[in-house]
Amino acid sequence: MSSSEDKGREFTPHDGNGSSAQESTIIRDVFGRLLRDLRVSVTDRCNFRCPYCMPAEIYGERYEFLPRADLLTFEEIARLVRIFVGLGAEKVRLTGGEPLVRSGLEKLVAMLSPIEGITDLTLTTNGYLLSHQAQGLRDAGLQRITVSLDSLDDEVFGRMNGRGFSVQTVLDAIDKAREVGLDPIKVNSVVQRGVNDHTVIDLLRYFKGTGVIVRFIEFMDVGNLNDWKLDQVVPSAELLERIHAEMPVEPVDKNYRGEVADRYRYLDGSGEIGFISSVTEAFCSDCTRARLSTDGKLFTCLFASDGRDLRGPMRAGASDDELAALVTDVWGRRVDRYSEIRASLTRPPERKVEMYQIGG
Ligand code: GTP
Ligand code: 5AD
Ligand code: SF4
Ligand code: SF4
Repeated sequence: MSSSEDKGREFTPHDGNGSSAQESTIIRDVFGRLLRDLRVSVTDRCNFRCPYCMPAEIYGERYEFLPRADLLTFEEIARLVRIFVGLGAEKVRLTGGEPLVRSGLEKLVAMLSPIEGITDLTLTTNGYLLSHQAQGLRDAGLQRITVSLDSLDDEVFGRMNGRGFSVQTVLDAIDKAREVGLDPIKVNSVVQRGVNDHTVIDLLRYFKGTGVIVRFIEFMDVGNLNDWKLDQVVPSAELLERIHAEMPVEPVDKNYRGEVADRYRYLDGSGEIGFISSVTEAFCSDCTRARLSTDGKLFTCLFASDGRDLRGPMRAGASDDELAALVTDVWGRRVDRYSEIRASLTRPPERKVEMYQIGG
């Protein structure tokens, strides 16, 4: 742990001006974990219907997503982000649903990018609407981007996005993102046995040597709807073996403590790949992630059943200090370690938050 992590500094309420220098109070949960990353869901809507997240048969034409008034406004998001930064958050990731379906997202990025204390501002997208927005997002101060892409095979991809959309639009968007200088670009790919695991080598070959970092995510039992079964998970160790046999790789140290991906590099020097092994090698002990849902609830775990409402108190007139105290209270009680205890649970939790509500 770095010395700056060890030092608790005094909390000085900031003046609401995003560019003002501010001191932070470092907060820790019950297991001593800091709050370093904030993931903000800006919409619960999505233009895809990935069966493992938002199955089309449930999220049809008539499904009612949150009404606009329930969504945090950009001003409210920016205010809460400043408060989280005041409590130690350094990394901010915008998520959804699909964040790019929220109109004017670059305005939010422009409000967040000047906030002192944010060292990493990024976004996770399915890429479908990215081509047209990449330049605006970059100009607004977005540093890098992560694109979800489960396969290069149109048939497999079409099934996995639940809409029959083809791959090329996403590949063009990735090119565009590189062109405008979003860097690094990461591609996240959820691997499901018998669905897309036969296409991982093709995906790697396509991006090898381009600088784009492909990372494979073990299929997880997030939410209540994806009918998850352990035998659909391809353990990263197995995937690594398959990949190594085709394109030899070696491990690389993590970039920072708590990084979710295990990093590897090709022995021929043509780039880096990663594995996110949230099922077979849980990383809860280093989990410093807080999640803010579209409607302003604070979740302290991807597998939580509920979150603490911040929007209500905020709209009722709570001050920054009062909101910071709320967050501190929630974080101070945090004991989440779902992935570590998954195997020992006799039955799964009755209800878990859905991925699209808190953005993964
Ligand atoms: P980098 O900052 O680029 O290293 O990425 P990140 O740590 O922000 O991870 P990213 O958002 O790209 O996460 C990739 C995927 O890993 C997510 O979409 C989730 O599926 C999974 N993941 C991320 N964080 C967690 C977590 O706290 N718990 C679990 N179980 N899975 C997570
Ligand atoms: N397991 C693993 N990853 C998932 N994602 C969505 N649902 C799951 C799941 N059940 C991924 C998406 C995207 C990110 C936001 O989370 O594919 O990359
Ligand atoms: Fe949309 Fe992402 Fe969920 Fe797929 S995983 S339905 S792209 S929010
Ligand atoms: Fe963090 Fe919960 Fe994921 Fe564990 S299961 S890494 S506590 S979000």
